Amino acid sequence: MTANPIFCAIDTPDLAIASRLAAQIADHVGGLKLGLEFFCANGPEGVRQIARAAGKDIFLDLKLHDIPNTVAAALQAVIPLKPRYLTLHATGGLDMLKAAREAAYEAADKTAAAPPKLIAVTVLTSFDQADLAEIGVNATVSEQAHRLAALAAEAGLDGLVCSAHEAKLLKSEFGHLLRIVPGIRPATGEVHDQKRVMTPAQALEEGASLLVIGRPITQAADPKDAARRIAADIGIVATRASQAQ
Ligand code: C5P
Repeated sequence: MTANPIFCAIDTPDLAIASRLAAQIADHVGGLKLGLEFFCANGPEGVRQIARAAGKDIFLDLKLHDIPNTVAAALQAVIPLKPRYLTLHATGGLDMLKAAREAAYEAADKTAAAPPKLIAVTVLTSFDQADLAEIGVNATVSEQAHRLAALAAEAGLDGLVCSAHEAKLLKSEFGHLLRIVPGIRPATGEVHDQKRVMTPAQALEEGASLLVIGRPITQAADPKDAARRIAADIGIVATRASQAQ
């Protein structure tokens, strides 16, 4: 059975809305992405509730960044939630990334759970050349993203967040790293504030491993139908058992 690569970004602080959405779309997505706004509002118990409502893999998009010891402790604290994917900032440096990886493996060992796939965020898409210069980085955005991707690879992380436009190049250079791709829009939909979008099928062709899709599903008049159509477009048939790899 083909794994469903669609992770829906449930970007809301409202637990009731998130639970309802999760249950509605569960049959048509591989998992759900919960980010900072959800986590700050609802904490670990909120994550558990969404996981129960959907019975799906959770992508915890916390973008951790602190001293190695603190990030390792944060990892240990979230392992009981059994996230399938977890993000951290590659700018935290090699020691932080390695400490996170070790902590994930140790904590997962203790709970006999699979460790989460650790996903590095390189340069945020809200950053441009001037923003980088402002924080003292004298490299182009793509040079900096490349440098941080290499750091993530060296630390033994599992994947990168990247645009679909970079996926092919990153696949050729860091083929073993998963490519987690936001900025996905169905061919006939609105693009919202995303500047460089691709359709789900194009993004997969370019080498995306996982598609992060938010508003095209969550703000559709019928989220379940929107998720079903997107899944059907990439040849995924509804099943509760489908899980992203
Ligand atoms: O609604 P939309 O499909 O644009 O949501 C995309 C999701 O991916 C949001 O949760 C957004 O924060 C996240 N994301 C992004 N671009 C990045 C990194 C993450 O859109 N570079």
